[in-house]
Amino acid sequence: MPEDRASSVPVAVKRNHTLPPAPPGYLLFQLPKLQHQPIAYLGQMWREHGDLVRLRIMPGFALFIAMHPDHVEHIVSIHQNRYPKADFFLKPMGLVQGQGLFSSEGESWLRNRRLMQPAFHQKQLANLHAVILSAVQSLAAEWAEKPDGAVIDIAAEMTRITLKIVSLALFSVDISDDSDRLGQAFRTALEYVYYRLNTPLALPLWIPSARNRSFRGAKQTLDRVVLEIIQSRRQDPTPRHDLLSMLLAAQEEETGEGMSDRQLLDEVITLINAGHETTATTLAWTWHLLGTHPDVMANLVSEVQTVLNGNPPTFETLPKLQYTRRVLDEALRLCPPGIGLAPRAALEDDEIQGYFIPKGAVFNVATYFTSRHPEFWNDPERFDPDRFLPEQVTKRSKFAYIPFGAGSHTCIGKNFALMEAVMILATISQQFRIELVPNQPIEIDPRFTLRPKYGIKVAIWKRY
Ligand code: HEM
Repeated sequence: MPEDRASSVPVAVKRNHTLPPAPPGYLLFQLPKLQHQPIAYLGQMWREHGDLVRLRIMPGFALFIAMHPDHVEHIVSIHQNRYPKADFFLKPMGLVQGQGLFSSEGESWLRNRRLMQPAFHQKQLANLHAVILSAVQSLAAEWAEKPDGAVIDIAAEMTRITLKIVSLALFSVDISDDSDRLGQAFRTALEYVYYRLNTPLALPLWIPSARNRSFRGAKQTLDRVVLEIIQSRRQDPTPRHDLLSMLLAAQEEETGEGMSDRQLLDEVITLINAGHETTATTLAWTWHLLGTHPDVMANLVSEVQTVLNGNPPTFETLPKLQYTRRVLDEALRLCPPGIGLAPRAALEDDEIQGYFIPKGAVFNVATYFTSRHPEFWNDPERFDPDRFLPEQVTKRSKFAYIPFGAGSHTCIGKNFALMEAVMILATISQQFRIELVPNQPIEIDPRFTLRPKYGIKVAIWKRY
C-alpha cells in the first residue's frame, strides 16, 4: 500500500470522545433533500454546524461531511491509509467498472495504478494531442456549416466531443454517435449505477425487474464489444499511439506480467466513464461562466488570438495559453463536476479537529465547499480567474483546491483532461463568437456529476 504520511505517528491514546456536531434527530426523511438538492442542503449544514458535520441518517449509520482543507488533507493525504473508499460506493460502481481503478482498493488497485501510470505521463500526452486536435477541428467544421446565430446546446456538444476524444484516445474508435451500440450501452449502464447509488432500497440485481434486465443487457454489450476490441488488438501488432496500446504493453517490473483481458476490460470501461462526463461537465459550466462574464470572455479571446495567431494550438503553444488555463482552474473551483470525492470509510477510530471519529465512519469529502471556504477564498462566489495567478496559488493551502483529488487516488487523467479542455476552449473561441441564450433555465442535475439539467443553450457566430 502507498505510504501513510503519518503512519509512524501513534493515534492519541487518550481520546476525546466528543463526536462532530450533528443536526437533531435522524435524517432518513431528509434523504431526498440530500439526494436532490445536495448543494443547498450541505451548504445549510455547513453554515449551521461548521466544517465537520455528522448527519445521522438512521440508527447505526451516520454520514460525516468534511469541508475544511485541513480535514481533507487528513483524510486523503496524511492518513489516507486509514480512509479507503467505502464499500457502499465501490459495489455499485463495480457493477459497471469491475475492478477498474475508480472502483477498487488495496493490492489490485495498486498493481493496476502502477501499470497504467506511465500511459498518462506528460511525454505520452504529446501523442494524444493530434487525436484531440482533429476531433475538435471536426466539431468546429460541423458548427461552421450552421447559419450564423444558430442555437446549440453546448453542454450536449461537450459530452459528444469528450466521449469522441476519450474513445479515440483510448482505442482509436469513435463511440460518440447516438446510434453507436457501445455509447448506448454505456449510457444505460451508467444511468443504472446513478440509480443504485441514490436508491438505498433498490431491488437486488438478481431480481429480473425491467430496470435490472436492461442493465444486464447493456453490461453484456459493453463487455462483449470492448473485449472484442482488446482481443483483436492482441492479435494485430500494428503499432498505434493510443492508450490501449500502452496498457496492452504494460508489464510489472519484477514479474514481467501484464494485464489480463478482464483487467483491461475493467480499465477501459473505467477510463471511458471517468474520462468524459467529468470533462464535459466542466466545459459546459466554463462556457456558462464565460457567457455570464463577457470581460473574462474578451480576455480569453484576446489571449487565444495573440498566442495562436490564427493557427491551431500545438503541444508547444498550449502552455502559453495561461489565461485560458486560469479560466478553467477557476471554473473547476466554482463548478466542479462533483460535490466531493468518492466516499471514504474510517478503518479505525481516529480524531479530527479534536472530534472523535469512530471506526467505520463514512466520509463525504465535500471539496465543492472546500474550494469556496471563506478562510481561503476572498468573496468565494465571485468568478475571478486571477485567483490562479502563480503568486496567489503559492499563498494558499494546496488542499483548498483539489478538483482532481489528492493522495494516491489523485485523478490519473488530470493532465489529459487539462490539455483537452484548454484545446477545446481555445479552438472554439478562436473560431466562434459564443453568446448565452438569455432567460433559459439553468439548474444543476446532482445525480452523479453536477451537469446542467436542461443543458446550456448558446448562439454561435463564425469569426471571419
Ligand atoms: C475535468 C476533468 C476531470 C476531473 C475534474 C476529474 C476528477 C477526478 C477526481 C476528483 C478523482 C479522485 C476521486 C477520489 O479520490 O475519490 C479522479 C479519479 C480518477 N480519474 Fe479523473 N477527473 C477528470 C478527468 C479524467 C480523465 C480525462 C480521465 C481518464 C482519461 C480520468 C480518470 C480517472 C481515474 C481512472 C480515476 C481513479 C484514480 C484512482 O483511484 O487511482 N479522469 N478524477
